[in-house]
Amino acid sequence: MSNPCEAELIHMFKGIRFTTRSSPELLKSLDTFDAREDDLLLVSYPKSGTHWLAGVITKLYNTQVTLTSPIEFGDLSKLEELSKLSSKRIIPTHLDYNMLPANFKNKKCKMIYIIRNPKDTAVSMYHYYRDNPNLPTVDTWTAFFDLFLKGDVVCGSWFDHFLSWEEHENDENILVLFYEEMKKDLPKNVKEIVLFLGLNISDSDIQDICKKSSFSEMKSDTEKENSDPSHTVCALTSNRKLIFRKGTVGDWKNHFTPKQNRRFEEVFNEKMKLSKM
Ligand code: A3P
Repeated sequence: MSNPCEAELIHMFKGIRFTTRSSPELLKSLDTFDAREDDLLLVSYPKSGTHWLAGVITKLYNTQVTLTSPIEFGDLSKLEELSKLSSKRIIPTHLDYNMLPANFKNKKCKMIYIIRNPKDTAVSMYHYYRDNPNLPTVDTWTAFFDLFLKGDVVCGSWFDHFLSWEEHENDENILVLFYEEMKKDLPKNVKEIVLFLGLNISDSDIQDICKKSSFSEMKSDTEKENSDPSHTVCALTSNRKLIFRKGTVGDWKNHFTPKQNRRFEEVFNEKMKLSKM
């Protein structure tokens, strides 16, 4: 069987590439999405550590919570599916701030935004594209590098995504976390999350949650749970090996040529000139 062509896998909505698993009807209807005050959003550009964050957060609650698939994923039936959930909803999303349903903003729902060094994000996304039949074929790292810098990948430009959220980093309902900081000191970051969510968790429970959220623990857990449909943070594959690849900081050094690094820095400095990053 031949690989599906790009048009079967990708469509554009408001100038951003989405997979065809996010139907245009759903994307249009998100404007009127009915958020609840206690919804918690997990926001990220793809491959920034969303599963990791979700793995930590779902372990923090001792009441019933439901981790959903990304809000932008699916067709119109998604809205009904979400409205039927009676427990607290933890909803991942890769939407940029401007596309986020207004109701989440009006109701000041809590949102946690995880950022990762875009060079490592690009490399992670390259492997994800390469090994995932639900995404267009990329022949080489060089070809993917160009697509990433232009923002011609799913969820659009890393820079635009980041800048749209950075404007709101001081909103009191938004917590910003860095993948690299989580790698350096996970307990410190988990304590920050606990405080932000207003939970009461002992230091020893936090240590335990951190242990269970290490890359190796999460990787072996999800491999055991391969067929569990409730593990839906990544709605584009049920192959967990594609999600838990290396989980390291600095893998970009194994992929970027010195020339690519210079080019990346140029684009970064230009795009981010108004950013505090
Ligand atoms: P790599 O491809 O660099 O290994 P997302 O969940 O947003 O799709 O991000 C996936 C990336 O997060 C992958 O990066 C994956 O290995 C990494 N990751 C997942 N769980 C992790 C964990 N517990 N600790 C560190 N990194 C993790």
